[in-house]
Order: sequence, then C-alpha cells, then structure tokens
Amino acid sequence: MTETAHDAPSTPTSLAWPQERTCPYDPPPAYPAPGEDAPLNRMRLFDGREVWFVTGHAEARALLTDPRISADRQRADFPVLMPRNRDQRTIQLPLLGTDDPRHNEQRRMLIPGFGLKKIAALRDDIQRTVDTLLDRMLAAGPEADLVAAYALPLPSTVISALLGVPYADHELFERCSRTLLLAGTADETNAAREELRAYLRGLLDAKRGIPGDGLLDGLVNDQLADGRVDREELVMMALLLLVAGHETTANMISLGTYALLQRPDQLAALRADPELMPGAVEELLRHLSIADGMMRVATGDVEVAGVTIRAGEGVVFATPSINRDPAVYADPDALDIRRSARHHVAFGYGVHQCLGQNLARAELEIAFSSLFARIPTLRLAVAPDEVRAKPGGTVQGLFALPVTW
Ligand code: HEM
Repeated sequence: MTETAHDAPSTPTSLAWPQERTCPYDPPPAYPAPGEDAPLNRMRLFDGREVWFVTGHAEARALLTDPRISADRQRADFPVLMPRNRDQRTIQLPLLGTDDPRHNEQRRMLIPGFGLKKIAALRDDIQRTVDTLLDRMLAAGPEADLVAAYALPLPSTVISALLGVPYADHELFERCSRTLLLAGTADETNAAREELRAYLRGLLDAKRGIPGDGLLDGLVNDQLADGRVDREELVMMALLLLVAGHETTANMISLGTYALLQRPDQLAALRADPELMPGAVEELLRHLSIADGMMRVATGDVEVAGVTIRAGEGVVFATPSINRDPAVYADPDALDIRRSARHHVAFGYGVHQCLGQNLARAELEIAFSSLFARIPTLRLAVAPDEVRAKPGGTVQGLFALPVTW
C-alpha cells in the first residue's frame, strides 16, 4: 500500500463539480477539510459520473507520481470536468494530456527554453516590461483596472517574446485563451481552439527556413525540420505554451495583489523587507491555489489511504485543500509570507509539474516588487466584495481589479 500521512478515512463526502469560492482566494467552503474529512472523497461530474476527489497532501503526491495514474485525455474513460470539454478526447493535447514516453520526449524539447539559466537571463527584459506598464498606468491614473493595465499585459508580453509570437496579435490569442478556459459550451470552446490553431499554424509555417530568436523558431527549424515533432503536434504545443504561459500568471498577479491588499500587515512586512519576496510568492502560490481540479484516470488498481481506486476510475485533485493540509502546514488558512510554503502543489507534482514555473516565479517576484514599491498608496477602488472573481471550474483569478492610489 502507498504510504500516506492520514489514518483510516472517515466516510467520504460526495459533492458536485464545480464548487464556487465565496472568497476569491480561499477554497470553496463545501470542499472537504483535510485533517477532518477523508483525504479521498467522491465528486459528481456534470455527466453524472462519480470520480475520486483528493484533498490529502501525501495522497495527492503519491497519486501524481504513480505511473498507473494517467494524464492521457484521449482515453475513453478520462473524466470530462466541464461541458465545454466534451470533445477533449478527439484532441491530442501534448504535455499536459499525454503520458510518458511521448510526454517526456515533448518535454525534453522544451526544457532548455524554461530552465533557470534561461529565465535568469530574461529578468532584465521582464523588469523593463514591468516598468513600461507601470509608467503608463501611473500616467493615466490615479485609477486603473489592474488586470487590463498590468496583470494581463505583463505575462502576455513576456510569453510572446519568449515563444516568438508577435505581441501585436495579443487580442486574438488572449480572447481565444479566455474562451478556452471559460466558455459555456463545447461549440464555443472548439471554435476558439480552431481559431487559435489556424493562427499558430500560419505563424509556424511562416517561420520555416527563417532564423529567429523565439522558442518556436527553434522548434520549427530544428525539431520539426528533422521529424522529431510533426506539424499538428507542434501547433498544439505552441497553443498550450501560449495559453498556459499568460492566463495563469495573470490570475496570480491580480489575485495575489487583491489578497495582499486585504492583509496590510503582510504587505507592510513585504515592503519593509524585499528579501521576503521569493518566500511570499511561494506562499501566495500555496494560499491562492489558482489551478484547481487537475485530473487523471487510473489505468490499474491503486490503493491509497485505505481505499482502492479501480482501473478506469477518474481522479480529480483539490489543489486548494491539498495546499492547506494541516499535516504539512501549521495554521494552513493563514497567509503568512514568512512561512516555508515549499512542497505545495500549486504547480502540480510529478512528471507534469509546471514547465513554466521558473518563468512564473520570476514574473511574480518582479511584478509584485515593482508594483508595491512604486505605488505605496495602492488600494482597492471598490469594496472587496464588489471585485468580480472567476467562477469555479476554471483557473481562479479576477475578471477586473479596480485600484486607485
Ligand atoms: C503562476 C502561474 C502558473 C501556475 C499556477 C501553473 C500551474 C500549473 C499546474 C498545476 C500544472 C500541472 C497540471 C497537471 O499536472 O495536470 C502546470 C503544467 C504546465 N504548465 Fe504551468 N502554471 C503557471 C505558469 C505557467 C507558465 C508561465 C507556463 C509557460 C509556458 C506554463 C506552462 C505549463 C506547461 C507546458 C505545463 C504542462 C507540463 C507537462 O505536462 O509536462 N505554466 N502548470
């Protein structure tokens, strides 16, 4: 049996997916509480299917590193979390939706582009983008929507430069990404995916035989040219990198700023000691847990926490609960920028752990440092409960963050 941190489970609770957060940075109140409820619970999906819902930290890490737990979204028994993803089985999603060994081959093509050294070399560029955006926002102030003026354009600019996608096309790729993550219907989702695919297909074709600095330029002229990846696979890799590379970080910047503005003591400590920033980013990642609902399917029977997950059963990971497991974090609901938040699963865990985590950390550190240093009087321009948060069942974040100074 897999080793776990919890004793015999109490009766698993069953609830329906998705659940809404009432506070934008806390887990939905209906989520089972790790430490009190069983670490594995039941979750009912919109199509009536029941899946396992994991809230325990040790159990999540055991399952996310178990080779019998598959990420292959093309499998007939892979859980479909939202109606908009009805057709996910017809789409070969590289990396996130592919198992080893192909997953590993795809990932190795990209690792040099996201390694620590490469990202360290980008810090000056990121700082320049941050400075420009803040100059513009301050000049147009003293009010702004922080999402439109800062949280979204920063990662959008950075990922387009890194990949070699013209930022001039940001409205198209931001709109398609938003639809992919938020659409109500499968038809809307499919249309957005096709639009973005067609755009990227054209972009990649135009790069053939022409040297360029972007990661995609290299992939087209090396890996595609010598047959290590095919055209459609590369189009979907580019799509994933572009979408994952800006939406997630944008949500972290907006929600992180909102959370810190609610905790003036934490913000004051951070302003007083900039050295706290890397730890604060880690704690914000843990505390906000914006990527809720990682999903998998078991390809063999797996025992964990005294239950047997049968082959063919779906498994969904409650990231916000896992990251607040009292077996790992003391006073887990508190935002404490001085704690060691290491071992959180905000970037996932195991072979699919976020490829862009070094980049995300660099952007978040620079974005928060400059924002709070340059605007000491930054505050919400509306009451906290008037801020519109994204619904459950997607990457958590804010639609807009009205601020003033
Ligand atoms: C704060 C921002 C971010 C968060 C919270 C985040 C979260 C995650 C999580 C939870 C996973 C694992 C999903 C799973 O196992 O099912 C993941 C994977 C991934 N992320 Fe991120 N991510 C962020 C930023 C980025 C950025 C900037 C990129 C850049 C392109 C990126 C690219 C990817 C890719 C390609 C994968 C799939 C890796 C694989 O399957 O091997 N992410 N991310």
